[in-house]
Formats: sequence, C-alpha cells, structure tokens
Amino acid sequence: MAEKTISNVDFSKYFQPPSLKDARRRRRDAVQIINDFSIPEDMETIGHGKNYLIETYGCQMNEHDTEVMAGILEKMGYQETEEPKNADVILINTCAIRENAENKVFGHIGTLKTLKLENPGLILGVCGCMAQEEVVVNKILAKHPQVDLIFGTHNIHRLPQLLKEALFSKEMVVEVWSKEGDIVENLPQSRRGHFQAWVNIMYGCDKFCTYCIVPYTRGKERSRHPQEIIDEVRELARKGYKEITLLGQNVNAYGKDLPNMENYGLGNLMDEMRKIGIPRVRFTTSHPKDFDDHLIEVLGKGGNLCEHIHLPVQSGSSEILKIMGRGYTRERYLDLFHKIKNTVPNASFTTDIIVGFPNETEEQFEETMSLVRECQFDGGFTFIYSPRAGTPAARMKDNVPMEAKKERLQRLNKLMDELSAKSNAKYQDKMVEVLVEGESRKNPDVLSGHTRTNKVVNFRGPKSLIGQLVTVKITDAKKWSLDGEWQKEAEVLNR
Ligand code: 5AD
Ligand code: SF4
Repeated sequence: MAEKTISNVDFSKYFQPPSLKDARRRRRDAVQIINDFSIPEDMETIGHGKNYLIETYGCQMNEHDTEVMAGILEKMGYQETEEPKNADVILINTCAIRENAENKVFGHIGTLKTLKLENPGLILGVCGCMAQEEVVVNKILAKHPQVDLIFGTHNIHRLPQLLKEALFSKEMVVEVWSKEGDIVENLPQSRRGHFQAWVNIMYGCDKFCTYCIVPYTRGKERSRHPQEIIDEVRELARKGYKEITLLGQNVNAYGKDLPNMENYGLGNLMDEMRKIGIPRVRFTTSHPKDFDDHLIEVLGKGGNLCEHIHLPVQSGSSEILKIMGRGYTRERYLDLFHKIKNTVPNASFTTDIIVGFPNETEEQFEETMSLVRECQFDGGFTFIYSPRAGTPAARMKDNVPMEAKKERLQRLNKLMDELSAKSNAKYQDKMVEVLVEGESRKNPDVLSGHTRTNKVVNFRGPKSLIGQLVTVKITDAKKWSLDGEWQKEAEVLNR
C-alpha cells in the first residue's frame, strides 16, 4: 500500500473539514446554472484499459449520482467492472440517513483494506452524504488510511481533477464543500436502465425536519430550469425510454427558487410532462406541506402521469409532527390525502413513518396506527428513529427504551403487511399494464415488473418482453406482490 502520512499531520493545511454548522446557513444569492464541464486534457485517456466500480448505498438520488460519476469516469476511458479485484478505481457512494446505513459503509471500507494491499495502485474513494459529515471524515482520516479520496455531494463535477490528485499524491485527498455550488447542466451520465430513467428536477432540501441530516448533506433547495428538464425528458422519449421518475428530496418545493418564474411549480412541470410522448411519469419524494392544489388538479388529468403517490407522513400525532418540524398536523395530512384520493381515485399511496421519535408516548404511537388504518396505505417504509449528530432531535433527551421502539415497529409492520395484502387483493382477476423490468430475483424463468400504481407483478413470458409495456391478468394476489398471466393476445401496449 502506498504509505500515507496521516498521523501527526495538521490537516487544516490540506483541507477545510466539512461543517454541518456552515451547511445550515442558507445563502440568499441565486444559484448559477453552468454548462462548462469538461475533462482536463491530461485526464481524457487516463482510464484507457482500466476499470471502475461504484458501490451505491441509499436513495434514488444517490443511484442517480452514481450514473453521473460513471458517466464522468467513462469519459476518461474507464470501463465498468463488477469484480472488485479487477477494479482500478472503487468509489463508495454513501448514505447518512440512519446510523445502520453508516455502520454498513464503515464495515465495507474495512474489508477493502485487503484489496488495497493486494493492489496498491487501486484508488479507493468515499463520496456521497457521509462524506459531508465532519465526524465521518475525521474517522476515515484517523482509522482508514486505505482510503485515497474523499469528496462530497457538491464536488461530483470535480471528479476528474480529484482523481488526478489522488493518483499522484501521497496524501489522502479530501474535498468536501459545506455549501452547495452551482448547478452543472452538462455532466455526462451513464444510465443504468435502458427503459427507465431518473431525472433530477431539484437538489437539496430547506425543510430541516428536526431528525433529518439531508438538508446539511445536500445543501439548499436548487431547482433546475424547466426547459432543461423538458429537453432531457424529450431526449429520453426519443431514445425509447418508457418510464421516467422526476427526482428531488422535496419535489413539491420545485420552482420556488427559480428567478423570474413566479408561481411556477411542480404542477406546471408535470403538465409539461403530459405533453411528452413517454408512457409513464413518476415523481418522488413529496412533502405534504408543499403539495398544492394545482399539482392535484394536474395529476387528476391522468394520461402518462402514474397513479402512485408516495406521501411520507412520519407520524400520526400532531404533537410529534410539531416537534419533528414537519409543518402540518394530522388533520391537514388527512385532508390532503383525501383530496388527492378524490381527484385521482385509482391512486395507490405509500408513506414513510418514523417510530420511537424522542419521548413518543404509546398514545402518540397509537395515533400513527390509526392514521395508517384510515389511509389504508398500499405500502410504506418504516424506521426506528436514529439520532443524527448535528440535528436538533439528536440533542433531545429520550425516555423511550429501544425495546419499546422495536415492539412499536413490529406492530406497525404487521398492520402495514395486512393493508398491503388487502390492497393487493383488489387486483385479483384484473387486467393490468406492466412495464417488464427483467427476470424476477427469485426465479430467472419468471419476468417481473411494476403496474402504474407501483405494484410488483410476476408472470411467465419470453425474455423479449423485457422493456415492453404488456397486459397481465392477475391470478394470485399475494401480500407483497401479484402473480399473473401474460395476455399474449392482448395488444402490446408499446406506446
Ligand atoms: N431516523 C429514522 N428515519 C429517518 N428518516 C430520515 N431521517 C431519519 C432518522 N434520523 C426517514 C424518513 C424519511 C426517509 C427517507 O427516511 O422517514 O422520509
Ligand atoms: Fe429530510 Fe424533511 Fe428534507 Fe425530507 S423534507 S429530506 S425528511 S428534512
């Protein structure tokens, strides 16, 4: 392993450590849109004959960042490999949302030590949300000298320069900006899917829910200009993509920061999407506070806008929601829920819930259970509250024992299972449109895909259907998925 001199070094000479405190301060000045990304001449061919591997943890935003980093590396001549032993560059794109996500990453970084010993030329990089946390950076500096490069979520476009430094430096290269930079529009992307694609519509989050690290690791809300998004989606449609998902941490705040575009929001953007010849359009993640009537009205028009709403509630107790800083009450959430349901009657709903927030009482948890029963969610992601250093909730005293939190999670998950089975049962004997995504994970003889309402459907059919929209008759509605029969004679809905 190339010797790294990391002990007894005054790191401040080499880099400014990231600071969650600085990240909290929001700048007023407008975000610049820049189009000048290019690979420095001496890096254009550096990857020829070499391989890269990116391991991705966390949300779709990270998955999409990985596509961008892969695009940049491929522009430098690197090729993708799935085999760590064959890799010349390994990047770990990390997630900071909960402690167990971070522990997994640290465990993994540890295992890569042997790989580095076997291949001293290997460049090992850590990026993503964990890289934005000073505690994480300090821990890597102190305990993981096998890491060559750390860069943050705002520094992705600097990958060529950083890689160059890492290749030629004996020090660990660290570049993490606490504050977001501009929006770089012309970054290359190496999309993983050939018929499904993610499209960023905005970056960052200004909501500062008291438990959440994202506003610190992803910076302030910055919307892409609608024309850039429309052009990207049109291009995807031209290439034959069947489904796009518009991405942002809080997509309902889309447009609020755009200069000279008063009142332009997600509703307007979704209306534009309806005019593009792409069969399916989704969006995630929503925040109930900013979900406005115009968006509901546009969703009601249907067409290519899929009838699936992911609407994180987090808690059914107005008191807990207040301490979480969510900006809505139980009643307002329910009003919104019913309003959407009335306008888009076939919509499926999923949610995110945190149990065991500091000092959550049994009664407050029961309010969450009753809200879930009232909404009859099709599914959801449920989490035990995980304190994140630097967030306000992490400083709250907590009187709820871990055993009680685990028991509440179990009770909630049991209810979620029952509701999922109930909502799936409604599909029995129905014909549904499925976008065929590939072989089922459990059985390669079975194909798998999703309905417009985001239900998983498994059925038998030729592999040539992969990437197509087909009709399937549901024959067995299970708890978490639907089994069906491909309706060969039905017209292939290859719009
Ligand atoms: N602890 C547990 N769950 C969290 N989430 C965000 N922060 C935390 C935390 N500190 C959950 C929320 C969010 C989802 C992406 O992750 O439910 O909607
Ligand atoms: Fe985190 Fe709240 Fe922003 Fe979602 S809206 S990313 S939970 S701060």
